[in-house]
Amino acid sequence: MKNILCIGAGYVGGSTMPIIASHCPEYRVVIVDINEVRIAAWQSDQLPIYEPGLDEIVRQTRGKNLFFSTEINRHIAEADIIFVSVNTPTKMFGQGAGRAADLQYWEKTARQILENSTSSKIVVEKSTLPVRTAEAMERILNSNGKGLHFDVLSNPEFLAEGTAVRDMQNPDRVLIGGRETESGRKAIESLVEIYAQWVPRERILTTNLWSSELSKLVANAFLAQRISSINAISALCEKTEADISEVAAAVGRDERIGRYFLRASVGFGGSCFKKDILNLVYLCEHYGLPEVARYWEQVVKMNEYQEARFAANMVSSMFNTVAGKRIALFGAAFKAHTNDTRESPALEVCRALLEEQADIVMTDPYALENACLDLKEMATRVTYEPDPYVAAKDAHAIDILTEWPQYTELDYEKIYRSMVKPAFIFDGRNLLDHKRLYDIGFNVYPIGKPPLSRLVQHDS
Ligand code: NAD
Ligand code: UGA
Repeated sequence: MKNILCIGAGYVGGSTMPIIASHCPEYRVVIVDINEVRIAAWQSDQLPIYEPGLDEIVRQTRGKNLFFSTEINRHIAEADIIFVSVNTPTKMFGQGAGRAADLQYWEKTARQILENSTSSKIVVEKSTLPVRTAEAMERILNSNGKGLHFDVLSNPEFLAEGTAVRDMQNPDRVLIGGRETESGRKAIESLVEIYAQWVPRERILTTNLWSSELSKLVANAFLAQRISSINAISALCEKTEADISEVAAAVGRDERIGRYFLRASVGFGGSCFKKDILNLVYLCEHYGLPEVARYWEQVVKMNEYQEARFAANMVSSMFNTVAGKRIALFGAAFKAHTNDTRESPALEVCRALLEEQADIVMTDPYALENACLDLKEMATRVTYEPDPYVAAKDAHAIDILTEWPQYTELDYEKIYRSMVKPAFIFDGRNLLDHKRLYDIGFNVYPIGKPPLSRLVQHDS
C-alpha cells in the first residue's frame, strides 16, 4: 500500500483528500495539521467545515484508508507522496506587505519534510503559490546531505467552496505541472494515475511547473474580473434604468463570453480572489510590469467600490442616516452553502454600517460562529440571531448579503408587519422577488436595477 500525506487540514486538504481516499482504496491517506482542535473536529461527528456531501465521504473512508493526525514528523517519514495545502495568506509585514503571498507556513513545511525524510518522495504543491515557488521548494528539499531526491509537482486546486465535493468528483480539469526530466515525468505519471481513478484522462492536463503555478492565479483573476466587470456595469444600470439581469443575460448569450459568473452582487468575497489577485499584482511589479499590475489591481479596487457603494446607497436611501436604527443583515457567509466568512462582503457592509452607528443584527444558517470571531473587535455592537424572523423584528431595513435559498422562502408579509415603517430591503444578491416585496409594502433596492420604492423622486 502506498502512503499519501496531506499537510494542512483546512478547506482544501480536508475536502480533497477524503475524495482521493474514496477513489483510491489501495492508498493510505493521512491528513495532518498543527491545529489540534481542527484535527479533533475532523475525527468527530462535527466536521470543522460545512461542505455539502463531505460528511458522508469522510464517514465512509475514515478509519479505513483515511486518517487525521497531529503527528506530522512520523507521517512525513512514512509518506511516498506529500501534498502541501497549508495556508498562503497575504503578507502583512515587511517587503511586499499587503500584496505578496506570506510563504512562512509553506517554507516551514518544506524544512520539516526535509528534516523528517529518510526516503525520496514526491512533494505536491496544492496550495496556491506565486509562480516559480517550486524552484525554491526544490532548492530547499534537494540541498540535503542525505542522498535523497525530491520531485516537486504543482497541482493547484480549482474547487469552489459549497460545491467542493461536486467539483472534486467531476472537475473541469486537473492540472499537474512538473519538470521535463525523466524523474519529473515519472512523478507526473504517479499523480496522473491517482486522478485517473475517477477523472477522464483527457481532463488531466500536464504542463511545465511555471505554467501550472501561474494558471491557478490567472484562473482566479479571470473569475474575479468577470464579477468586477458586471458589478461596474451594475452601477451604470442604476443611473440609466437599464436592468443588470437583462444586460447580463443578453451579453452572456454570446458563447464567446458565456453566461457564468455574471451575477452582479454586493461584491465578491472568499479567502482567495483578493489575495490571489494581489499576489499577481505583486509578481507583475516584481518582474517590472507596472502597467499589467495596475490592470489587475483595478479588479480588487472595483470590488471595494461595490461594497462601499452598497452601504453608502443604504444610508442615502434611508434619509441620510442609519444611526441608532436596527438593521438586519441576512447572511454572513461569503456565498451560500458554506460557513466560511473570510473576506465576506457581509462583514464589510457590517463594518461600514457600524461606522454610521447603526444597530446591527446578523443572521445566517451556518456562519454566525465564524462571523462572531471575525468581528470580535466589535462584539458588543452586533447581535447574532439564527432566526431571521427575530432578526427582522423592529428593524428599519433588511440587507440580503448571502444568497441562501432559504431566504426566498420566508414569509415576507409577516416580516413586513414586524418591521418599523417605512420598511426597506436592500437586496445585495438580487435574490428575492422584488415586485412581490414592493406589493407587500417594502421599499426595495436591488443591485443594478431601478429601485421599487415609494420614496424615490423620479425625474420625469
Ligand atoms: P485553511 O487556512 O483552511 O487551511 C490551512 C491549514 O494548514 C490550517 O488548518 C493550518 O493550521 C495548516 N497549517 C499551516 N501551517 C502548517 C504546518 N506547518 N504544518 C501543518 N499544518 C499547517 O486554508 P485553505 O482554504 O485550505 O487553503 C489552503 C491553500 O489552498 C491556500 O493556498 C489557498 O489559496 C488554496 N486554495 C483554497 C481554496 C478554497 O476554496 N479555500 C480553493 C483552492 C485553493
Ligand atoms: C473560487 C473559484 O471559483 C475556485 O475555482 C477557486 O478554486 C477558489 O476560488 C480558490 O482558489 O479559493 P470560491 O471563492 O470558493 O471559489 O467561490 P466562488 O463561487 O468563486 O465565489 C466567490 C465570490 O464571488 C463569492 O462571494 C460569490 O458570491 C461571488 N460571485 C460569484 C458573484 O458575486 N457573482 C458571480 O456571478 C459569481
